[in-house]
Amino acid sequence: MKRIGVFTSGGDAPGMNACIRAVVRASIYNDLEIYGINSGYTGMIRGDIFPMDARSVSNTVQRGGTILKSSRSDEFRTPEGRKKAFKQLQKAGIEGLVAIGGDGTFAGARALASEFRIPVVGAPGTIDNDLYGTDYTIGYDTALNTAMAAIDKIRDTADSHSRLFFVEVMGRDAGFIALNTGIASGAEAVLIPEQETSLEEVIGKLEKGRHKTSSIIIVAEGDDGGGAYEIARKVEEKFTHYDTRVVILGHIQRGGSPTCLDRVLASRMGSAAVEALQEGMSNIMVGMVNGEIKYTSFDKACKYHQEINRNLLNLVDVLSV
Ligand code: F6P
Repeated sequence: MKRIGVFTSGGDAPGMNACIRAVVRASIYNDLEIYGINSGYTGMIRGDIFPMDARSVSNTVQRGGTILKSSRSDEFRTPEGRKKAFKQLQKAGIEGLVAIGGDGTFAGARALASEFRIPVVGAPGTIDNDLYGTDYTIGYDTALNTAMAAIDKIRDTADSHSRLFFVEVMGRDAGFIALNTGIASGAEAVLIPEQETSLEEVIGKLEKGRHKTSSIIIVAEGDDGGGAYEIARKVEEKFTHYDTRVVILGHIQRGGSPTCLDRVLASRMGSAAVEALQEGMSNIMVGMVNGEIKYTSFDKACKYHQEINRNLLNLVDVLSV
C-alpha cells in the first residue's frame, strides 16, 4: 500500500482535527502518501481529493470542528453513489482509507470495503459515545465538559430565582452525555432514551425536593418523553411549586477546543488506524478499551451500542435526595 485517504463524516466532534493530524503524520512517518477527502462521502463522490503533507495539519490539534469538513450523504447510501465514490478513489490512486465518524460513517465504510475490496479502518468520532468497542469516542469528553459548564451557569440563575430548569442535551439514541453531566452538575433527575420516562416518578422526585432552592432535570434529546419542552409542559401542569424554564443546549456541545483527553485519544486512534491499514486490516474500528488500543469489526460496532451503566442512574437518585 502506497497511498491512503482520510475523511470525516457525520456529526463533527471536537478532536477530529487531532485525529486527522495523527493520520497524516503517522502516514508520512511510515512512508505512505496521504490524501485528504473533503466533506465526507459527498466529497468522495465529487472527487474532492487532494494531497496532504505534514504541514497541512500544523496548528490544528487544538481546533474544534473538522478541517476536512463533514456531511451526511444520501447518495452514498445507494450502490450507484458508492460506485461513483470508488471510481474517484481509483482515479486518485487511493489504496486504503481511514474513516473518522460514528455508526453511520462505519455502515457506509463497511459497504464500500465489501463491495469494492478497498481496505477501510475507522476511528470513532462522535460526541455521543454510543459506539460498541470503545470506552470513549473522540469528542465525547469535550462535549461533556461544555455541557457541564453550561449547566453550572444555569444552576446559578436557577438558584437565584428558585426555578426549575429542564436542560436538553444532545444524544438522539444515547444518554451518555445526559447521565454523566447530570451527575457532574448535581441534577435532580436524568431522562435518557435507554430508560422509559415516567412523569409520575419525575413529579414524585420534585415533590420530595420541594424544599430545594432550585432543581435541574437533564433530558437527552432522544428521550421517549418527547423532548424537554414537552416534558416541561406536562410537569408544569401538575407541579406548580416552581417557575419553570427550558434550555436546549444544542450544537454548542459539538464545538470548541478539544480537551486534553480527547486530543490524546484522537492522536492515539489516528496513528493506530494507519498502523492497522499497514498491517493489512480492514472493516474494523479502532477503539480504546481500558487504556489499550483494541479493534472491533464494523459489523459489531454498527450492530451493538455501548451499554449505559445502570448504577449511574441509581447514583443520580442517591445524590439528589
Ligand atoms: O451524532 C452526533 C449528534 O450530535 C447527535 O447527538 C445529534 O442528535 C445529531 O448529531 C444532530 O445532527 P445534526 O447536526 O445533523 O442535526
